[in-house]
Amino acid sequence: MSPRGCSLIFGVVFLFLSVFSFTNIHAHHCTEGFLSEAKQRNLINITFCKRYIESNGVEIAMYLREKSRRLDIMVGAKFDEKEKTGWLAWGLNPGPEARMVGTQALIGIKKMNGDFHREKYNITSYTKIGCQLLPSSIDFNVSNFSFSYNSYLQYHVIQACIVLPMKYDVSRLNHVWQVGINVGDVGKEPKMHPKGLRNYDSTETINLRTGVHGVLNIIGWGTLLPIGVIIARNFREFPLPCLAWKEYHVSCQATGYIVGSTGWAVGIWLGKASKYYSFPKHGIFGIFIFTLATLQMLFFQFKPRDRDEFRMYRNMFHHVVGYSLLVVSCINILKGINIMHLDYSYWLPAYLGILACLTFIFLLFEILSWFKFLCDKFGLWILCANHKPNHEEPPNSRKEDARIQPTNTPINN
Ligand SMILES: *[C@@H]1O[C@H](CO)[C@@H](O)[C@H](O)[C@H]1NC(C)=O
Ligand SMILES: *[C@@H]1O[C@H](CO)[C@@H](O)[C@H](O)[C@H]1NC(C)=O
Ligand SMILES: *[C@@H]1O[C@H](CO)[C@@H](O)[C@H](O)[C@H]1NC(C)=O
Ligand SMILES: *[C@@H]1O[C@H](CO)[C@@H](O)[C@H](O)[C@H]1NC(C)=O
Repeated sequence: MSPRGCSLIFGVVFLFLSVFSFTNIHAHHCTEGFLSEAKQRNLINITFCKRYIESNGVEIAMYLREKSRRLDIMVGAKFDEKEKTGWLAWGLNPGPEARMVGTQALIGIKKMNGDFHREKYNITSYTKIGCQLLPSSIDFNVSNFSFSYNSYLQYHVIQACIVLPMKYDVSRLNHVWQVGINVGDVGKEPKMHPKGLRNYDSTETINLRTGVHGVLNIIGWGTLLPIGVIIARNFREFPLPCLAWKEYHVSCQATGYIVGSTGWAVGIWLGKASKYYSFPKHGIFGIFIFTLATLQMLFFQFKPRDRDEFRMYRNMFHHVVGYSLLVVSCINILKGINIMHLDYSYWLPAYLGILACLTFIFLLFEILSWFKFLCDKFGLWILCANHKPNHEEPPNSRKEDARIQPTNTPINN
């Protein structure tokens, strides 16, 4: 493919993905108040938090512990203050789609006399056609189920802890919610919710699993890119001269770019699938990383031929951006791991292991290079006796230059 074609493709993909991600990051999120309230309760590490502006402003936060399949939920909504009664419902549907019939629901009811009730309901097709809805058993165990009023948020809040049976797929979880006003005489029967538009679109399928995104990003940004840098820095001439270093460097970075961007796209998709994960900083860092990486990839196409000064600036830019990229992606991966805490206790050690390995290799090469440098400059090393410079330039300036500008070499330009 011609360089121009490549650049064009990168450019288009970049533009598309950035627009896509920006529209997502600010699209939906739960309010700060709700988030902090959820964190104060049992949902320390929020997996999901979203406000459904279009359906009565209901806010839902979840914390999933993947290993134990324990799901903590908190659902809040503002009741109509003019009404004496009201109910708030949230449930999961184990069926193939998110819909009312088949939902295993938790419902909190505010009665005429101001009392609060909470019950479990198995919503069937009879409910839909208007039959009485009464408490029943549901197919998961619920603990710490409460319904209360939070005066700070002015929300009525359902909170519960559920152990998800295997038939609920956490990467395709159908959840359904609803707010209503009228309550039956006995006080345990939520009556039909209002039939406005705001009340119909109250279902969603969400993905609470973030593993793939993490793996791809750790491999792409966190492993391949640093390896590519090590190649460029050390395989050009010393300690491991390799004629094809540039091809290796480029293919390593290109692969890293593709894998990392895929991981990033998955991250955006995760955000899209559940509209909002409350991690704007992680998202912004992600965009930043992708932007820098794209710059580097585009830059690879950009080769002013003859002007030495240009080439120097070009290389400086390449290095500054490259190293910043490494630092930022390292920070963001750690951030991401910190966010996930879905019982993935092995993520942090795994990534730290990779990091330690790369640092070790990097330092090893650095030390070797310094030995070589000192040897060339001062003849300190015994082995220097056998070393013959394989070019005409004075070794000192040559080596110094090579250390700072690994790509600035006649071989490839
Ligand atoms: C819920 O209702 C449906 C339809 O009547 C029934 O098949 C199902 O067994 C019920 N689930 C539970 C947990 O009772
Ligand atoms: C609910 O909990 C009980 C006892 O802890 C257990 O025997 C039962 O299998 C659980 N049911 C489900 C659907 O998880
Ligand atoms: C239930 O709530 C209490 C107090 O909020 C908490 O100490 C306990 O750990 C919770 N239990 C479960 C199973 O979430
Ligand atoms: C939840 O987050 C805290 C710190 O934010 C962390 O120490 C803890 O390990 C996390 N819990 C789980 C289950 O990962």
